[in-house]
Amino acid sequence: MFTRKINDSLSVALVQPSVAKDYFAIVSKERDELSKFLPWPSKAHDEAFFENYIRQVLHDYADGKAMICAIVFDNKIVGSIGLNAINHDLKKANLGYWVSKHYRGKGIATLCTKEFIKICFDEIGLTKIEIKAAVNNVASRAVPERLGFSLEGIISQSENVNGQLYDHAIYGLIK
Ligand SMILES: CC(C)(COP(=O)(O)OP(=O)(O)OC[C@H]1O[C@@H](n2cnc3c(N)ncnc32)[C@H](O)[C@@H]1OP(=O)(O)O)[C@@H](O)C(=O)NCCC(=O)NCCS
Repeated sequence: MFTRKINDSLSVALVQPSVAKDYFAIVSKERDELSKFLPWPSKAHDEAFFENYIRQVLHDYADGKAMICAIVFDNKIVGSIGLNAINHDLKKANLGYWVSKHYRGKGIATLCTKEFIKICFDEIGLTKIEIKAAVNNVASRAVPERLGFSLEGIISQSENVNGQLYDHAIYGLIK
């Protein structure tokens, strides 16, 4: 399992089965908050949910299809960031993230995204990264906007999050 140090207090580490209990501890306390923009916290009612998720994404990592990492800040797991749907034909992937509410506004998502840009472009051989966020998810949109992604368009009715239909802003960064 690899770890990438970003600075003295921040790193990203490929998920491993032991992370399930940390993810569950955060999500069980912050379920309502995280459910505003994410569809899965409302279904994550035990550690087994995350054990299954981690098993699946590690299979996908082995197949070159995904790379999901725990975000570690001051030696604590505080969130998750990762590539879904890595497409080697199109040389692109989608990047997603969430951070515990207690650790937001410190630049954690931005710094981790910056590290993922390096990994994608310099190590995995991708030439495009996409980030999609609900149009009203200001905090999430601020991350690609700060890092020089272009707004490529708005997809209407792109996701149903707990009964709420969201339009998505799609951001792209080309190498
Ligand atoms: C999106 C998310 C990962 C951002 O994490 P973070 O570590 O706080 O992000 P950063 O600190 O790197 O950047 C957040 C930026 O957005 C700004 N921001 C945060 N909340 C904001 C709000 N409600 N309105 C306006 N700006 C806001 C911050 O000021 C910061 O910008 P600044 O540094 O220029 O001031 C976090 O808010 C989160 O987990 N949200 C819930 C899950 C989610 O929505 N995931 C994304 C799904 S697409």
